[in-house]
Amino acid sequence: MRPEPLLAATPPMGLNTWNTFGAGINEQLIIELADALVRTGLRDAGYDYLVIDDFWQADKRDADGRLVADPSRFPSGMAALAEEIHERDLKFGIYSCAGALTCGGKPGSYGHEPIDADTFADWGADFVKYDHCHIPAGADPVTLYRRFGQALRLTGRPIVYSICEWGRNEPWTWAASVGAHLWRTTNDIVDTWASIEHIGFRQYALHPYAGPGHWNDPDMLVVGLYGKGNVAQDHHPSDTEYFTHFGLWCMLAAPLFIGCDIRQFNPLARRILMNEELIAIDQDPLGRQAARITKDARTEVWARPLTDGTWAVGLFNRGDIPRTLAVGFEALGLEREAQCRVKDCWAGEDLGRFTSAFTSPVDPHGSMILRISV
Ligand code: GLA
Repeated sequence: MRPEPLLAATPPMGLNTWNTFGAGINEQLIIELADALVRTGLRDAGYDYLVIDDFWQADKRDADGRLVADPSRFPSGMAALAEEIHERDLKFGIYSCAGALTCGGKPGSYGHEPIDADTFADWGADFVKYDHCHIPAGADPVTLYRRFGQALRLTGRPIVYSICEWGRNEPWTWAASVGAHLWRTTNDIVDTWASIEHIGFRQYALHPYAGPGHWNDPDMLVVGLYGKGNVAQDHHPSDTEYFTHFGLWCMLAAPLFIGCDIRQFNPLARRILMNEELIAIDQDPLGRQAARITKDARTEVWARPLTDGTWAVGLFNRGDIPRTLAVGFEALGLEREAQCRVKDCWAGEDLGRFTSAFTSPVDPHGSMILRISV
């Protein structure tokens, strides 16, 4: 018998409705987003999951106890919408919650785990995000996540299981064992530099837990929101900060879920989200999340080994003034006097050969993502 292909062998990529649209979702919008994933080339760049987040549900289950889509906003129903998504060679993702209600107050899956997993499988779901609101007092979250993981497995359909428990109970230590392919490690991201920085650089201890089929999830991307949409705040990140956000997430082998409105795809967001060198780092089959190798008060250097024997290195300046950063090749396990070839991944430019170390100025809140080979 041929073994089943590993689900989420590389970090899942796609689009999720939450960061821009929040509660304002309907079937017309989902079809427009599906078309936009194809038209922009995002699907072919790897972003092939379209995940419908909270607020798709009607307020009540049907007479058989099944979840149903809100008929006023999803008149054709979820199975038909899933078909539209699949026809575009995209994968269909949906959302539910381990508690009695979702975070948005819609019916949750607590006590209905088998029937909800079956419903999602019947609709053709390829991905389920499973949230953490309204957990009944005394219920053990790990047990609830295991229960739903088992229910998903029993459907027999390969479904990526995305645990959204915000890192409360150290999911990196147990989530893979309950069948999860990815698990949120933090609270929700918002569209500010402070949020990107706070979440991204806190991931430094989690690299041992990631690998093919099981990923740390530092939450979805805010690249390209520019202060618009559900998680917008007064001060949106600068272009430089959006580059740093994406670069860091790729170093982290993070799931890449776009959050901006790709129907009006900003050219800079396109440049960031579709950079092939960066995506290749995120999706490297070895699946090794970067570790932080050096740090001072305002600068950090992160590195991850790649399948082909090269290293991806991120130089990050968290400070408010330009700084000169360096990566010593010895810190990558190479000889002290090693001669290495260095490539600037954003520019796709070979910077030449360097001995012992590579040094470069980096803008405030900026970064450089390098590929280093001997
Ligand atoms: C929680 C999750 C978010 C989103 C909302 C939906 O806050 O962390 O990602 O799914 O619920 O209500």
